[in-house]
Amino acid sequence: MAQGNLAGAAPLVIKFSHVAAPDTPKGKAALKFEELAERYSNGGVDVQVYPNSQLYKDKEELDALQLGAVQMLAPSLAKFAPLGVQDFEVFDLPFIFPNYDALHAVTQGDLGRAMLAKLQDKGITGLAFWDNGFKIMSANRPLYLPKDFIGLQMRVQSSRVSEAQMIALGAVPQAIAFSEVYQALQTGVVDGAENTPSNMATQRITQVQKYATVSNHGYLGYAVIVNQKFWDDLPADLRAALEQAMAEATVYANGIAKGENEAALQRMKAEGLTTFHDLTPDELTAWKAALAPVADAMAPRIGVETLAAVRAATAAAD
Ligand code: LMR
Repeated sequence: MAQGNLAGAAPLVIKFSHVAAPDTPKGKAALKFEELAERYSNGGVDVQVYPNSQLYKDKEELDALQLGAVQMLAPSLAKFAPLGVQDFEVFDLPFIFPNYDALHAVTQGDLGRAMLAKLQDKGITGLAFWDNGFKIMSANRPLYLPKDFIGLQMRVQSSRVSEAQMIALGAVPQAIAFSEVYQALQTGVVDGAENTPSNMATQRITQVQKYATVSNHGYLGYAVIVNQKFWDDLPADLRAALEQAMAEATVYANGIAKGENEAALQRMKAEGLTTFHDLTPDELTAWKAALAPVADAMAPRIGVETLAAVRAATAAAD
C-alpha cells in the first residue's frame, strides 16, 4: 500500500467524470473506487466523482481527459470510435455475447488487455472494463418483430455498429448524447431508444415510453480510462495503491451489475408506466435473423482480427 500522505501535503485531486446516475452500476462503482483509492493511499488522493454529465457530456468528456482537465472517465465502449479506436465497437454487435461469462472471457482476459492497450497512442491509459448490462428496446408502440421498427427514429450512442443495427431493423438511427435522451423522447425528436434497465430507470425513460421489449440484444459496458501523462507521472507507490483500488472496484462493479439491472427492471415493471414484453422464441429467432448481417457488414470497420478473436473467446466460454 502507499507510504501515506506527506504530513501537511494536500491530497492529489482525481476528477472522475461520468454521464450516468449515481444509482447505477457505474455510479456505484465510481464511488467504490473513490472510497478504496482514498483509503489505500492513506488520504494521498482526493477522488471527486461527478456523475450525471455534471461536468462534461459524452463528446466533451473524452476531449477533457486528453487535455488533462479531468483525470478519469468511464465512457461506454460505444463511444470510443471517434477517438480512432473502432475495435471497441465490437462490443455493440447484436447478440455477440450470449451471457456475462462469454463477455468476461473477453473483457477480463488477455484480449481485453490488448484492446485497452490500443488507447496508449491516444494519450489514454485503459485501466479496466466495468459492466453495465444487456440492452432492451423501448418505443411508444410494441416492438415484437423487426417489422415493428420500420420508420421509427431510434436513439443510439455514437457507434456506427449501433447505427447499422437500427438500420437492419428498418429504423432510422440518431446519435444523441445520453444527457439529452429523455428530452429527445419527450419532444418526439426520436421515437424510441435502447439501453440497460438501470439506465432506463434512472433516466425516468418510463415516463416517455409506453412499451419496452426485454430483448437483451446487445451489451453496454465501460472502459475506465485515465489521462496517460497524469498516470505515468504518479509516484510508484501511489499508482500501486490506485491499481489495487481499481482492481477491487472492478470486482465490485462486475459483481453488482447483473443484480442492479434485474432490480431496475422489476422496479419499472412495478411502476406500471411502461408495458414490458419478453421475446417469444419465434420473435427472438426473427430478431437474430434480421440482425445477423450486421457483424459481417461491420467487420472491416471493427477489424476482422478483433472480431475473430472476440468470437473465438466467446465460443470457448459459451
Ligand atoms: C448511453 O449513452 O446510453 C450510455 O453510454 C450511458 C452510460 O454511460 O451508461
